Amino acid sequence: MKIDLSSNYMGLPLKNPLIASSCPMTGDIQMLRSLEAAGASCVVLPSIFEEQIGQEEQEIDQLFEFGSECFYEALDYFPDLDEYNTGVDSYLKLIRQAKKELSIPVIASLNGSSLGGWLRFAQAIEEAGSDALELNIHFVASDPQTTASDVEERYLELVRTLRKEISIPIAVKVGPYFSAFANMAGQLVKAGADGIVLFNRFPQPDIDLSSLQVNPQLQLSTSSENRLPLRWIALLDGKIKASIAATTGIHTWQDLTKMLLAGADAAMIASAFISRGPEVFTTLLTQLHKWLEENGYRSVEQMKGSMSQRNCPDPAKFERANYMKAITHYSPRM
Ligand SMILES: Cc1cc2nc3c(=O)[nH]c(=O)nc-3n(C[C@H](O)[C@H](O)[C@H](O)COP(=O)(O)O)c2cc1C
Repeated sequence: MKIDLSSNYMGLPLKNPLIASSCPMTGDIQMLRSLEAAGASCVVLPSIFEEQIGQEEQEIDQLFEFGSECFYEALDYFPDLDEYNTGVDSYLKLIRQAKKELSIPVIASLNGSSLGGWLRFAQAIEEAGSDALELNIHFVASDPQTTASDVEERYLELVRTLRKEISIPIAVKVGPYFSAFANMAGQLVKAGADGIVLFNRFPQPDIDLSSLQVNPQLQLSTSSENRLPLRWIALLDGKIKASIAATTGIHTWQDLTKMLLAGADAAMIASAFISRGPEVFTTLLTQLHKWLEENGYRSVEQMKGSMSQRNCPDPAKFERANYMKAITHYSPRM
């Protein structure tokens, strides 16, 4: 039986739902070629950080002073910034090169947390040919005076501002630390997001006891971490007018299949291909195909969301009941 693995992410047709997630390895053209050859249906480039752009903001401001009609010509001046290049120019080059060499969609990634001129760099990203933009918002609300609604408004204002800058689809990649994530996801969509990527995996710093230094070293994920995005994808499926991409802890065909059953339009993979190489895409796709065939599905579209809470009349009660069941039925394995 012919199985259709295609999916759609924010209006971008994908030949399958497996996307290479943003990480330093997706900044290498040879690696991007290998990922495409192994079956990745789309790639997200490494993030360029607000701070990197901030360093060149003054130059960007000057370029904008030429007037918006001259903006695209003005971009040609970027190579002249080479001698004090902090990444802006090479990032645009990476997008152009990736677009030239690959036939799958290429998504650039902006990483930041505050409103500012850096957001205008999104226009340059669009002009360089990126098919969409992923905005990774990383903000730790450490000030006790900052309220939850201050933080939410900060996120929303970032998305609204970005929406005004560009016309390509915007995906917003966020962490799970919101008290009412379903509402927040809807607000992000209202603010202009075409896709929500859940959840961002923040490195959790440790303390090195021998050097008494804070150690921010990032560890690769494991499958056990995918339960959190899995639950929220199942809860959000059908409730927001945007695509949903799953990220964190997708290593095996079981992890991937569950995310799709929960309602994900796409599954983003980083740790698995960093540790096992791009071939992991081929393996996962072969196994997904086999599972669909064995379970009588004709397409990914058909399976998507079939285990979500879309038709559950009271998801909060369902969640509470499951929580109680898990706790009261626990038995230690000897
Ligand atoms: C070494 C490394 C670097 C990463 N860099 C970025 C980044 O620049 N921008 C971003 O949005 N996510 C970044 N991520 C997060 C991944 O895109 C992904 O969301 C996260 O690792 C969870 O997926 P995984 O379990 O497949 O690794 C990075 C992850 C790793 C492991």
